[in-house]
Amino acid sequence: MSRTPAGRRTRYALCGLSNRGLSLFALPLLGLDATGTRPAEHADPAEPAGPSELSELPEHGELVAILDVDADRVRAFGDLTSTDVPFYAPAEFDRMVDEVGPDVVLVTSPDATHAVYAIAALRRDRDVITEKPMAATCAQVREMLAAERASRGSIRVAHNLRYTERNRQLKRMLLDGAVGRVTSVELTWSVDTYHGSSYFHRWNRERRISGGLSIHKACHHFDMVNWLVGDVPEQVFAYGALNYYGPGSPHRPETGEGDDPRRDCPYHQRWLADGDVPEDDHLKPRTGLGGLPYTVQYPPGTRNWIYDEAIDIEDTYSAVVRYRSGASLSYSVLFSGAWEGYRLAINGTHGRLEACSVDFRDGKGETPESGQIVHHPMFGQARRHDIAGGEGGHGGADPLIRRDLLLGPSQESLDLRIPADSREGALAVAMGEAVWRSVADNRPYSIDELLDHSAPT
Ligand SMILES: NC(=O)c1ccc[n+]([C@@H]2O[C@H](COP(=O)([O-])OP(=O)(O)OC[C@H]3O[C@@H](n4cnc5c(N)ncnc54)[C@H](O)[C@@H]3O)[C@@H](O)[C@H]2O)c1
Repeated sequence: MSRTPAGRRTRYALCGLSNRGLSLFALPLLGLDATGTRPAEHADPAEPAGPSELSELPEHGELVAILDVDADRVRAFGDLTSTDVPFYAPAEFDRMVDEVGPDVVLVTSPDATHAVYAIAALRRDRDVITEKPMAATCAQVREMLAAERASRGSIRVAHNLRYTERNRQLKRMLLDGAVGRVTSVELTWSVDTYHGSSYFHRWNRERRISGGLSIHKACHHFDMVNWLVGDVPEQVFAYGALNYYGPGSPHRPETGEGDDPRRDCPYHQRWLADGDVPEDDHLKPRTGLGGLPYTVQYPPGTRNWIYDEAIDIEDTYSAVVRYRSGASLSYSVLFSGAWEGYRLAINGTHGRLEACSVDFRDGKGETPESGQIVHHPMFGQARRHDIAGGEGGHGGADPLIRRDLLLGPSQESLDLRIPADSREGALAVAMGEAVWRSVADNRPYSIDELLDHSAPT
């Protein structure tokens, strides 16, 4: 981005016309909302970008190419948006660079494909912005770091969880010394039955594509902790299992031949319970955001089922992590939870910070204190701090990360060290790989062992 000549817009090529690529980059760069149209005055905050941002981004950046495996999907995108952004197939990456000359390659394809496009871009000295996780394996991460070292380009990783109001406030308090030196972190994450089950009928359910949920999803959580405490993870030990999905699920319906098995599936019934459950793009594998089809990824006539044999990942983990400073993290995550969110506590030599975000999608259930941070000084009076809810995707994080990535980091982002680089992206992947390998091999894994000392400190 910094190498874009003055007076011209930054040229972006998008690899992977995913739901995420659409909402975070493609539509906003075209000045369009989630429906593919130019928004009126009152944009829905759940949509990709607000009206002022939508007019500003296209002044500074330009979507010059889309690379994807699915020509039909890209064609449908052109129809939806009345645009004709040039389309390239994966094997045409170099031709794409020659013909459209992107400054930055945006990588928003499935996780295991990030490395291919990032490395190809770095070889052509382009900058890379990749969605989280930076890659699906540590082997891919090592190759990406080597390619970055040999390139004039660099990698930035879109770790959007850092940008929520709650997390920015926590980081500010930690930098101000609210707890002293961090000694331990407690993090419990719950992905509810609605969202959690969705991973098991999408590509995420196969480790060769997503790295498993300890990488695909938990990389958010690990990166959040690493960034908040400003420390480097050294060793991980974990237990985990597939308890809720796959052929051995206790919820798999027993149905007679010819019956639609989904009729008796409690997860499926929850997805269908519209009226009190909001729309969720995680649940649209056949037609994604904007109604675009996934002709190649989910071919017509095939149907994924959350109890399929193909599922080879875990849905439950408990892990402990040792940090370089001696601090430790105890972490657990469940993908069939009663609520969506997390409970976090950060303990230090001089106090404790507690935060929680608990969301019952359908408004039912008992909601504990959410939307507040509680600060317990070691020997003083505890104090509650309210958190303003941010507007826009992922608790207000998405508009902020998009601005930072496409227009340059804000002063607040620089002060709070929010933008994530390749080293930080690598550490989050390594923690996730250490988790599933530890589960498989029943032994601790060190981060250095997995990254082969290739993540610069
Ligand atoms: N930061 C976040 O909050 C967040 C949220 C969702 C997804 N993500 C990340 O965004 C990325 C996309 O996820 P999604 O669920 O939106 O994807 P998706 O399933 O909506 O779309 C995947 C797209 O990639 C294309 N594709 C498949 N194989 C490809 C290949 N080899 N080369 C190029 N394109 C290919 C598909 O045709 C499809 O267009 C992933 O890396 C995911 O981890 C991040």
